[in-house]
Amino acid sequence: MKEKIIYFLKEAREGYVSGEEISRRYAVSRAAIWKYIQELRGDGFDIIAVPHLGYKLVASPDKLLPTEIQYGLKTQYLGKKIIYENMVNSTMDVAFRLGMEGAVQGTLVCAEGQTNGKGRLGRTWSSPKWKGVYMSIVLRPSLALTQVTQLTLLAAVAVCEAIQRVSGVAARIKWPNDILVMNRKLAGILTELSAETDQVRFVVIGIGINVNTPLRLLPLTATSLKEETQRKISRVELVQEILCLLEQWYERLQKEGFDGVVQRWKELSSTLGRRIRVVDPSGDVEGEAIDLDGMGGLLIRNDTGLVISKTAGDVIDE
Ligand code: BTN
Repeated sequence: MKEKIIYFLKEAREGYVSGEEISRRYAVSRAAIWKYIQELRGDGFDIIAVPHLGYKLVASPDKLLPTEIQYGLKTQYLGKKIIYENMVNSTMDVAFRLGMEGAVQGTLVCAEGQTNGKGRLGRTWSSPKWKGVYMSIVLRPSLALTQVTQLTLLAAVAVCEAIQRVSGVAARIKWPNDILVMNRKLAGILTELSAETDQVRFVVIGIGINVNTPLRLLPLTATSLKEETQRKISRVELVQEILCLLEQWYERLQKEGFDGVVQRWKELSSTLGRRIRVVDPSGDVEGEAIDLDGMGGLLIRNDTGLVISKTAGDVIDE
């Protein structure tokens, strides 16, 4: 009911909505409406009440509440179901459990903060409360296990584009899915999956973005959108834009295949054409990053002219 009241108040734009109108629309007593308004105020919504006029929503809290994310969200299925957590170990663990329990495609888990944010290759992800975006999405693609990298690259493209649209920051992708500004890390993507034989059952795409995070709360090599723009960026708008672009690219992948994603990834890449080293337990490779292969692996030409494809690892500039 609280979601419905917020929706109604938002639809009234600048105007007031009387308790009677709300009570008629949703068949709830005016006393109950008053109780919900009190609760919403407790959640951080600034709602004024004027005798004879009614209620007016003056400001929403700076939180990733489902009501905020879903208001005006233009997706078909991404984010239609949202699990919102104040503090959580990791949104990956919550989303993975939900995936195991049969959560529908597009289920979004987002949290204000994480106590055990996970990064790639066993690293941690700094997740101070109310500062960043920490979200995980359950997808159920019909992909073979070997094609899952495609989704990771697709997510990097969507996040990069969303960042540009909402903040104006022209971030670039370091293979496979680090989002950087001038070589400093702004966002990261982590993919976990459950599979049966070689077919994917579900994939969890985890996205972490340093949005309004002060540098003192981040690793030395990181940056945030606030640092780059010198202004506060709306986390809600960013999540909405990510969901929208992610769904568009995901639809495109399923209808037209991987080529469009690869092309866009290349345009946004900061890795191709550079001399790099890929560090990976199965063996480091050094040379020029020349292209992506059809699966999203990085093709490197080493000093003997041999072209090697890497499907995992960490890229270091040489
Ligand atoms: C990386 O670049 O190493 C990946 C970072 C992924 C961080 C996000 S934050 C939301 C989700 N929950 C986690 O614990 N990790 C991912």
